[in-house]
Amino acid sequence: MDSLASKLVPQAVEKLIPYQSARRLGGNGHLWLNANELEDCAQYGDLSKGSNDKYNRYPDFLPHDTAAAYIKYCQQEVANLDTEIITVRGADEAIDLLVRTFCHPGKDQIIICPPTYGMYEFCADSFAVQTCKIPLTDDFQLNVEEIKQQLPNSPLLFLCSPNNPTGNSINQADIISLLEASKETTLVVIDEAYIEFSEHQSALHLMNKYPHLIIIRTLSKAFGLAAIRCGFLLADQSVMTYVNRLVAPYPIADPTAEIALKALSDDGLSLMQQQTDQLIETKQWFKQQLTYLDSILHIYDSETNFILIKFKESIDAYQQLSAQGIVTRNQAHEPALMDCVRITIGSKESMLETLNALKKLN
Ligand SMILES: Cc1ncc(COP(=O)(O)O)c(C=O)c1O
Repeated sequence: MDSLASKLVPQAVEKLIPYQSARRLGGNGHLWLNANELEDCAQYGDLSKGSNDKYNRYPDFLPHDTAAAYIKYCQQEVANLDTEIITVRGADEAIDLLVRTFCHPGKDQIIICPPTYGMYEFCADSFAVQTCKIPLTDDFQLNVEEIKQQLPNSPLLFLCSPNNPTGNSINQADIISLLEASKETTLVVIDEAYIEFSEHQSALHLMNKYPHLIIIRTLSKAFGLAAIRCGFLLADQSVMTYVNRLVAPYPIADPTAEIALKALSDDGLSLMQQQTDQLIETKQWFKQQLTYLDSILHIYDSETNFILIKFKESIDAYQQLSAQGIVTRNQAHEPALMDCVRITIGSKESMLETLNALKKLN
C-alpha cells in the first residue's frame, strides 16, 4: 500500500536524486582524495585548539553517533520506539525541510494554530505556500473540528506542544483525534522544542501507531546549546525517504556533532536534568512573586522556560522593561495576546532584577 508521504510528495521531490556528496557516497580506502579537502593542514593545528580533531575533512553526511544517542535518549521514555531520525541545524531547519519536501509552492497550504511559533508561517511564506490559520481556543487548546475540515487541503499540520508563546501543552486526546482524522490526508508535525520542561507525556509513544506523525526536537532549550544549532527530526521511514532527498550535503558541523554527543551522554543528560529542575524551581519562585504585583492581570501556566504575562491595558510593560535594560518579547502583534509579554526564565539573579523592574511599572 502506498504511504501517505508517497501520495503527498510533489513530483519534483519524488524525482529528485539526493545530491551525492563525497561523504554520502562513502567508499573504502586509505587515501581520501575525493572531496577537495586540504589534506596536509598541520600548520593550522592551532585553529582546532581544545579539540582532539582537526577540521580539514568534511563531516559525516549525517552524524550517526549523535542520532543514535538521541534515539537512546528517546527510548528512555518509549522503550520500543520505532522511528528514523535525522540530525538537523536546529528545529528551524526541520520545519523548513518539511515544507520544502511535502508542499507544492503556489498550490498547497499548511495548517497552524496561532498564537504559535512564527517559523511555520515564515517557512511556508518563503516557499510560496499558503498558511491556513485556525486559532487556538480561549484556553489555548485546539479547535479540533475546524482543523479537521481543512485536513483534505493540507499536506502538513504544525502543532507545537508545549506551545510557544502560550506555554501550555496541547491536550493529547485532541492530538490523537487529529491523528486518526488525518491518516489519508495530512502529515502531523509536533514541535516538542520545550518538552523537557513539561510534566505531560511527549507524543513519542504515538509514533509506532501513526506513521504520519513527525516529531521535532532541539538541543537549544533544556540542553542549553542554542549556539551549536542542533535539533532532530523523527519520522517513519516512509516520510524520511523524501526528507532525506533535500538534506544539505554536509549539514552538521563536526564541533556541533561532538558537543551534541557529549550532551547526550549519561553525564550530559544528568546535567540537563539538573539544569531543568533548577529552571523550573526559579520559574515557580518568580511566578509566585508576580502574584503580588498590581500591574499584572494574568500569569499563564507554563510548561516551558518562559512565562506569558498579561498586563493591565494602561501599562506598556515591554517598553518600560526595555527602558530598564531588560529585553523581553512583546506579544502585542497577536490578537489573542493583547497586553501580553513573554519573559524567558533566566538565572535567579536575572529574575530578581526583572522582578524589581516589574515592581516599578506604572
Ligand atoms: C517552538 C519552537 N520550535 C523551534 C524553535 C527553534 O529551535 P532551534 O533553535 O532548534 O532551531 C523554537 C525557538 O524558539 C521554538 O520556540
